[in-house]
Amino acid sequence: MSFICPNCSLPLTQEPNSKNLRCENNHSFDCARQGYYNLLLANQKASKEPGDTSEMLQARNRFLETGKYSFLVRAIGDVISKYLARAELENTAFTLFDCGCGEGYYTRELQKRYCSLPSEYYCIDIAKNGVKMAASQTKLAKQNIEIHTDANTALLSANFAVASSANLPVAGNIFDVFLSIFAPFNETEVARILKPGGIFIRVAPGPNHLFELKQQLYTTPQKHTAPDVPVGFKMLNEQCITNQVKFDNEAQFSDLLYMTPFAYKGMREAKQTLYLPNNNQITAEFFVQVLACE
Ligand SMILES: C[S@@+](CC[C@H](N)C(=O)[O-])C[C@H]1O[C@@H](n2cnc3c(N)ncnc32)[C@H](O)[C@@H]1O
Ligand SMILES: [Zn+2]
Repeated sequence: MSFICPNCSLPLTQEPNSKNLRCENNHSFDCARQGYYNLLLANQKASKEPGDTSEMLQARNRFLETGKYSFLVRAIGDVISKYLARAELENTAFTLFDCGCGEGYYTRELQKRYCSLPSEYYCIDIAKNGVKMAASQTKLAKQNIEIHTDANTALLSANFAVASSANLPVAGNIFDVFLSIFAPFNETEVARILKPGGIFIRVAPGPNHLFELKQQLYTTPQKHTAPDVPVGFKMLNEQCITNQVKFDNEAQFSDLLYMTPFAYKGMREAKQTLYLPNNNQITAEFFVQVLACE
């Protein structure tokens, strides 16, 4: 367990016969029923319920579980295999930190791919409801795999905490992979927790991402450009991956609308009038950047 105390930064260890955590200064943190810790201090919150709303998280969970964005999971998996600089990765465990994990889809899917390796996953989000969903969905995924296959799922588990990207409650120099998918990060914190040789995989919207929707919302819709390389990092690789998402029904389209930043941007009324493009398809496009500390 590599969580550290958000009050004093000392290591947190499990109390005897319990999953609760405590540091040497006696700061203690209970393990919630779903299997996560709340390591977000009251003074690290800008609002009572920071982060994405339950409505957004549930819409995202329903949409992502359809597998429509699985091409992004594959791209991230391929990057991990290629850039961890270990040809023998297929047999090597790694440590991954998912910052702003939301309801946890991407880590869950990566774990399925690499579940024969004793890798360690840490997932944080500032939205308590997101972390709660992520923790319980991981348990469910594990049970489902156990029911339907004879795969060794003992290794399918992650450490979940409510926390802010500005103060990561984990020890330094322990992660091979830092993942930020459409989520905020703090470059100083990323550099602190990555091992030497570790990689920072950052996913951001590509130029044509959901452009068919933007065309309906804005008179002059802007295309996304690739995000700048964060200070203290160098770019190892950048790719832009595209896929056409075909909706099977109106509900999927509605879920996509509710999980997107359109919900933040005061477009709720306009969203009522958005219509599914004629061919029932929409463009999903992502920049996948692979960065390393300079
Ligand atoms: C667009 S969602 C992406 C979620 C997930 N990575 C995915 O792609 O499904 C952004 C996530 O970042 C979280 N978030 C926002 N501000 C944050 C912060 N300061 N620290 C940690 N998480 C944050 C939100 O609660 C939300 O779950
Ligand atoms: Zn402490």
